[in-house]
Amino acid sequence: MSRLLRIKPMSMLNKEAAEEGEHTLKRSLGALNLITLGIGAVIGAGIFVLTGQAAALHAGPAVALSFVLAGFTCAFAGLCYAEFASIIPIAGSAYTYGYATLGELVAWIIGWDLCLEYAFGAATVASGWAGYFNSFLQQLHIYIPPQLTATTGTPLVFYQQQWLPVMSLPPGVSGAGLPHATGLFNLIALCVVLVITTILVIGIKESANFNSAIVIVKLGIVGVFLVVGGLFLMQHPHIAATNWHPFIPPADGHGNFGWGGIPTAAASIFFAYIGFDAVSTAAQEAKNPQRDMPIGILGSLVVCTILYILVSLVLTGLVSYKTLNVAAPVALAIDATGVSWGSLLVKIGAIFGLATVMLVMLLGQSRVFYSMSKDGLFWKWASDIHPRFRTPWITTIVFGSFAAIMPAFLPIDNLSQLVNIGTLLAFTIVSAGVWVLRVRHPEMERPFRTPLVPLVPILGIVSAVYLMTRLARITWIVMIVWLLIGLVIYFTYSVKHSKVQALAKAEEAD
Ligand code: ALA
Repeated sequence: MSRLLRIKPMSMLNKEAAEEGEHTLKRSLGALNLITLGIGAVIGAGIFVLTGQAAALHAGPAVALSFVLAGFTCAFAGLCYAEFASIIPIAGSAYTYGYATLGELVAWIIGWDLCLEYAFGAATVASGWAGYFNSFLQQLHIYIPPQLTATTGTPLVFYQQQWLPVMSLPPGVSGAGLPHATGLFNLIALCVVLVITTILVIGIKESANFNSAIVIVKLGIVGVFLVVGGLFLMQHPHIAATNWHPFIPPADGHGNFGWGGIPTAAASIFFAYIGFDAVSTAAQEAKNPQRDMPIGILGSLVVCTILYILVSLVLTGLVSYKTLNVAAPVALAIDATGVSWGSLLVKIGAIFGLATVMLVMLLGQSRVFYSMSKDGLFWKWASDIHPRFRTPWITTIVFGSFAAIMPAFLPIDNLSQLVNIGTLLAFTIVSAGVWVLRVRHPEMERPFRTPLVPLVPILGIVSAVYLMTRLARITWIVMIVWLLIGLVIYFTYSVKHSKVQALAKAEEAD
């Protein structure tokens, strides 16, 4: 038992952090790169797609309050991540933090769980990306066979020159009598993940530059939406008043709307915040990780929280929340302002913007398994660095392919719920880890200190667990099955190959 609780010594971590040379990752990212990496990972399908669904199905205009609630949960966890990232500037994120504090088994569980966050996260965003891309093509009257644009079994109808899922029809419109088709698989989502995977194999520096450029485009689009939509609402306050009334629609008796709908929507739009922690997975590629990691994590979180609250208010002010359960809700809302170029611009922005999210997610994924493999807990190929590109290319290709297949067959809401539960679990463990480390190693140098320990970690744990309880039972079951598969790998492979265990055995033998 004590073997499973064995922690990775700080001396070993510091040695790895200082490693340089051709078989290591390149240190090329500065503070601004890290903030843009964070924003690149954060603003994505959550705000561009899931906010519309959450408003239409769970909370109405009060989805803005759901963003406040989820924002607090992330802030508590973000403060804990920042302390860890400043102490342990190694690729691997929560996995590495867990290894240094809570022991090998917990670390393994987090690492495996992070796969839910990153690989399934990229898959979720690919699904949202495909929705915007297809809507963009259809606006230009380019039609991909509808069967190849939706997951297996999705009923589609042709309405106002667009193929769309029956459930996205505006309230009161019946699908009867419209041309219809049934989804086979989502080819667009599959292809986009494969393209991103290729970019990642080619290299981090190139990826970071590509990311920075696109983050500017993405922030620009969000800014245009806020300015165009905000000005419109100021000039037509009666429209806002009508759409925001009632701000909290009456409860429907199934946990939706009313006050209870706000946390339900929060558990769903929590996805919109995911990604700031992906900054920490790039610690080994940061030039000055101790100083820049906290700046990257907290900076991107603050910027995104403010934008989300504003976007959700403008979105639900421009159109009735009931109409927002569509693939491209932000484009739909800007259409209501009468600005003819608005929806096309939003779609183009989302197409580029969501691409960066997939990029950072898949980057995080490969770096977690890279770290696990370096520790001997995962197969060796996962830390194999390409001699020319100096990227962990095999793991990138393996998990990129996995992330490509998922959105081809599973719908966005199922995928996003899994990502949310996986991430909330990681947040819980990281928050606990900060507290444990303060008790066990109070003397340790902490370039960034989480304020008010243990209050902030406790609030982090309580709020994350609370949001987990708002997720569907099937999501819990899938997560538990996933973790069980992970445990099988741990006990059949990792225990035997762990470098930390080997080191401890050698020391015992001396
Ligand atoms: N937060 C990211 C998104 O919303 C994952 O797409």
